[in-house]
Amino acid sequence: MKNRSQWFSFAALCTVGACLLGCPHGQPGAQQGAQQSATNDAATEQLYDTNCSVCHGKALEGRPTFAPALTDLKSNWKSSDELAKYLADPQGYAAADPRLKSQHDNYSMRMPTLPFTDEQRKALALWLLKQ
Ligand code: HEC
Repeated sequence: MKNRSQWFSFAALCTVGACLLGCPHGQPGAQQGAQQSATNDAATEQLYDTNCSVCHGKALEGRPTFAPALTDLKSNWKSSDELAKYLADPQGYAAADPRLKSQHDNYSMRMPTLPFTDEQRKALALWLLKQ
């Protein structure tokens, strides 16, 4: 009898454990979507680390004489599409934008055009505006 009740508690624990690990409740679709976008964010952050952080800093804090901080892009960029357009041709874009043009005086570097795909630029723009 004792054995049987031990087995029962073990079975109950398993059920709770399985539920904690992967409960079949909730919205699997939404969970998958969140996971997908977390993966994309990680890939985009990697893209930033490799191509941008040398000038803009690991935490987007900017570097004196190198490049401005990118921590408050929301104040100046209305949409990620516009920001993606800038990334496609920063110097061409800045030529028609007095605010960006005036930044030239503060830095010895120039924002380069990097060889990204449209998708990568779009992902970077979305990610930057979330920071
Ligand atoms: C060689 C250094 C350098 C690198 C690498 C670089 N940037 Fe820049 N970035 C600049 C400078 C300098 C500016 C200021 C504008 C100018 O003078 O061209 C700037 C400006 C910007 C701006 C506009 C900031 C504002 O105030 O609106 C954004 C956005 C930006 N960079 C994003 C990026 C991203 C994303 C990457 C990587 C894909 C990157 N930069 C890589 C130097 C750099």
